Amino acid sequence: MPNIEPDTHNATLCQLIAQRISEQPQQRITFADYMDWVLYEPEQGYYATNAVQIGIQGDFFTAPHLGPDFGELLAEQFFQMWQYLDGPSSFTLVEMGAGQGLIAIDVLRHLQRCAAVDTNYADFWTALEYIIVEKAAALIAEQKHHLQAFWEEIHKVKWLTLAEIPPSSITGCLFSNELVDALPIHQIVIKERELLEIYVQTGKTPDVAAEQPIFQEQHGQPSTPELAAYLDWMEIDLTQLPEGYRSEINLAALDWLSEAAKKLKQGYLLTIDYGYSAEKYYNPARQQGTLQCYRHHASHGDPYQYVGRQDITSHVNFTALERHGETLELENLGRTQQGLFLMALGLGNRLVTNNNTADLTQLSDVLRRRDAIHSLMNPLGLGGFQVLIQGRDINTHQQKQELKGLQARLI
Ligand SMILES: C[S@@+](CC[C@H](N)C(=O)[O-])C[C@H]1O[C@@H](n2cnc3c(N)ncnc32)[C@H](O)[C@@H]1O
Repeated sequence: MPNIEPDTHNATLCQLIAQRISEQPQQRITFADYMDWVLYEPEQGYYATNAVQIGIQGDFFTAPHLGPDFGELLAEQFFQMWQYLDGPSSFTLVEMGAGQGLIAIDVLRHLQRCAAVDTNYADFWTALEYIIVEKAAALIAEQKHHLQAFWEEIHKVKWLTLAEIPPSSITGCLFSNELVDALPIHQIVIKERELLEIYVQTGKTPDVAAEQPIFQEQHGQPSTPELAAYLDWMEIDLTQLPEGYRSEINLAALDWLSEAAKKLKQGYLLTIDYGYSAEKYYNPARQQGTLQCYRHHASHGDPYQYVGRQDITSHVNFTALERHGETLELENLGRTQQGLFLMALGLGNRLVTNNNTADLTQLSDVLRRRDAIHSLMNPLGLGGFQVLIQGRDINTHQQKQELKGLQARLI
């Protein structure tokens, strides 16, 4: 039984979910529905309210919180993509799941600065349009606030849903950083060699005086044959998985990739996240799966604590994205680790140029920046994230050249 602290839940959200569970014929919901609601329920979910605390002082931080290097180096990769597509007069970046809009700010500021001093970048800047696809209304408001100069004054940025982007309309790059790990996943468990799904039901409060519903697991037959089909597709032999083995299946990632790929006429799809190939993801030794909850920079494995007040994530199965991409006529251009990707784009040079200061008053800034760059490289941390680049209609000789970020690979 988890150590519940009732006042740390979002009570309205708990009541809402309990109500929905009570309306189900079997009085239970899939974990995917539970995760979707606790994170994204409009006005109540973690990402929908100001409970979302992303940043160095918050529940978790992402690469752009360490400074502008990540966004600026991504911008350099986008510039080269535009060049490889022969400098089209219209090039669209679609950022999906933009958080507070930090990457967008760093990308746009960098490219605007470069355009002021270099005519090639100036042409790219003229061609560039930036679309943000974001699910959480509270974060859209924050993005608009941070990016005001780029949408109110020069109309470089706009916000759309994926559904609002017409099919085959994008020449450019659709990209995301830590989006796929935030999509709702189904949880599975192996019992007596059988594949079962983990459902969520309403439980009894230990303190009968408390009116707060609590949530607990129930195991049952899979809600959809897609779960078994997915494992079969990943060539996972269920008989090799030990009793009690748990893991996650991200069907939403496949739907998301299908939708995103549909929009791409010519160009790239770049996905950055933490994860593994299927073989490692579903290794029998990884018995407890990869589900993680984040609150105040502490991570734990109990998604029924701090309902609506903590982030819930799972690692990404990159093999599924690669294989599914092939069925959508996306070419796998390559996958590497984030540290290597950023180094290939010039992160190491930034470490060197950043070291030169005779001014002791700037020393703490220099050291802070150096720490940030080291964190982006660290293979046991952000540097170990995966970067997958898929492409469509990348045909000419120049386009076939390896993108700079993919030039160093360990995998
Ligand atoms: C972990 S945050 C990452 C934020 C940002 N990319 C960064 O690197 O700081 C996940 C983001 O994806 C958004 N998100 C989740 N599901 C989404 C969906 N289906 N469509 C668009 N955005 C989504 C969340 O609201 C949030 O902004």
